[in-house]
Amino acid sequence: MKRICIVGISGKLGQYMTEHALALGYEVTGVCRPKSAGKLERFKGRITVHPGRTDDRAVIAKATQGCDGVLVVLAPWGVQDYASGTARAVLDLAPPHVRLVFSCGWHISRDGKDRYGWKIRAIVSFGTPILRALRLVDIDDQVRATDLIFASNRDWTVVRGSDLEEGPSEGLPIWARRVGDPRLASNLTRRTDFALFMVAALTDPALIREAPAITGCNGASVRAGGSAAAGVLPSVH
Ligand SMILES: NC(=O)c1ccc[n+]([C@@H]2O[C@H](COP(=O)([O-])OP(=O)(O)OC[C@H]3O[C@@H](n4cnc5c(N)ncnc54)[C@H](OP(=O)(O)O)[C@@H]3O)[C@@H](O)[C@H]2O)c1
Repeated sequence: MKRICIVGISGKLGQYMTEHALALGYEVTGVCRPKSAGKLERFKGRITVHPGRTDDRAVIAKATQGCDGVLVVLAPWGVQDYASGTARAVLDLAPPHVRLVFSCGWHISRDGKDRYGWKIRAIVSFGTPILRALRLVDIDDQVRATDLIFASNRDWTVVRGSDLEEGPSEGLPIWARRVGDPRLASNLTRRTDFALFMVAALTDPALIREAPAITGCNGASVRAGGSAAAGVLPSVH
C-alpha cells in the first residue's frame, strides 16, 4: 500500500485517518467540499486535496487515479442521495483492484441478523423521518449506499462504528460480524481508533467483503471477554 485517497478527508474521521496514513508513510490524496479545504491547513505540503463534492464522479475519478486504497466516509447529509452517490462513484470509478474501505454506523445490517438495543432502534425509527422531513440527513441513504457496496464484487470492507468519543488512542478496536455480540456491549470507540481500524483494514485481507462492527478495545465488555492480541485486527464471530 503506497498511495491512498480519503474521500471526505476534512471531517473529524477523515482528519484522523490522514494522521494515521501519514504516520505509515502513505502518500495521501483526498476529496472534500471546497469550503472545507481550510480545515486541512495543518497537513499543507504533505497531502494533495481535490476540492469537490464526494459524489462528483469526475472528482472521484481524478482523485483515486494511481491509488492502491480508498477510504470513504459515508455521510448521508441532505436528501439528495449524497452517501449512495458517493458509494456509487467510488465503486464505478476507482481503479480496479483498489482496496476500498467505507465507514458507517452500527445501524447498517448486511444480513438482517444483527440484534439491536432499544436506543439504536429508537434513534433509527424516530430520527429517520424527522431528520428527513427537516431535509438535514437521510439515514436510509446510508442503507442504500451500503446495499450497493454489499452487492459489489470489488474488494470492499464496510466498517460499522459504535458510538464515538474524542480522546487519545486506546489501540485497535475489536470487531464482530454481528451487532448483539456481548463483547460489543460497551458500544464506545475513540474516534481516532475508528480511523485506525479503517486504515489498518486497507492491508488486512481477512476483512475483504466483511462488515465488521467495532468497539473500543478498552471497554468493560471487551475486558470481560479477554483482551485482544496486540498487533493484529482482533475479531469475534
Ligand atoms: N458521529 C457518530 O457518533 C458516529 C457513530 C458511528 C459511526 N459514524 C460514522 O462515522 C463517519 C463520520 O463520522 P464523524 O462523526 O467523524 O463525521 P464528521 O467528521 O463530522 O463528518 C463526516 C463528513 O460529512 C461531511 N459533511 C458535514 N456536513 C455536511 C453537509 N452539510 N453536506 C455534505 N457533507 C457534509 C464532512 O465534510 P466537511 O468537512 O466538508 O464538512 C465529512 O466529510 C460516518 O460514516 C458515520 O456514519 C459516526
